[in-house]
Amino acid sequence: MSPIKMAVLISGGGTNLQAIIEAIEDKVINGEIKAVISNKQNAYGLERARLNNIDACFIDRNSFDNNKEYNNEILRILENKDIDLVVLAGYLQILSTKLVSKYQNKIINIHPSLIPSFCGKGFYGENVHKSVLDYGVKVTGATVHFVDEGTDTGPIILQEVVKVEDDDTVESLQKKVLSVEHKVLVEAIKLFCENELKVEGRRVLINR
Ligand code: GRF
Repeated sequence: MSPIKMAVLISGGGTNLQAIIEAIEDKVINGEIKAVISNKQNAYGLERARLNNIDACFIDRNSFDNNKEYNNEILRILENKDIDLVVLAGYLQILSTKLVSKYQNKIINIHPSLIPSFCGKGFYGENVHKSVLDYGVKVTGATVHFVDEGTDTGPIILQEVVKVEDDDTVESLQKKVLSVEHKVLVEAIKLFCENELKVEGRRVLINR
């Protein structure tokens, strides 16, 4: 089976990107990252791409009149590189309806909670873990899902639970969840590359 061509969209440090790079190197994922795209020029994930000889593209949102035009630029890159799978790995910009519908069930996002809890508008990064602690839930975790027109609302592919301990802080929780993110994101991409994911309505059936 020929390797799946991926584009990874980031806005930050890129530890999820790093996990994908290493999984490809270790032949866990039968894929190739053709581009890393960021809306932040100083995102360390762009440096991770460059260090691994991967095309690193900074696209400045402020150079475009609106979100639609900005997303059309991203779409141009995806089409030029004949991308099969788009991975949102800590990407904090909204995708346009046009882009999402063109890549229906071909865009994967990683979220640091057990969706449908602690997700949606404003729930990203540390905000998620602070809300988890403030609410007092006993478990949190990570979710990988296909992206639809909503925010964190697409069909769920994989989830993994992380226990919330009495002495957990935002930092300790973020660290525990992030390592689970790396694991489930790599697993979900592997399943996608091996064509083992079947979307039926809101459910994603896994043919393991
Ligand atoms: C992390 O908070 C993660 O939960 C979310 O995006 C953030 C950035 O992760 N998915 P990364 O280290 O840039 O991959």
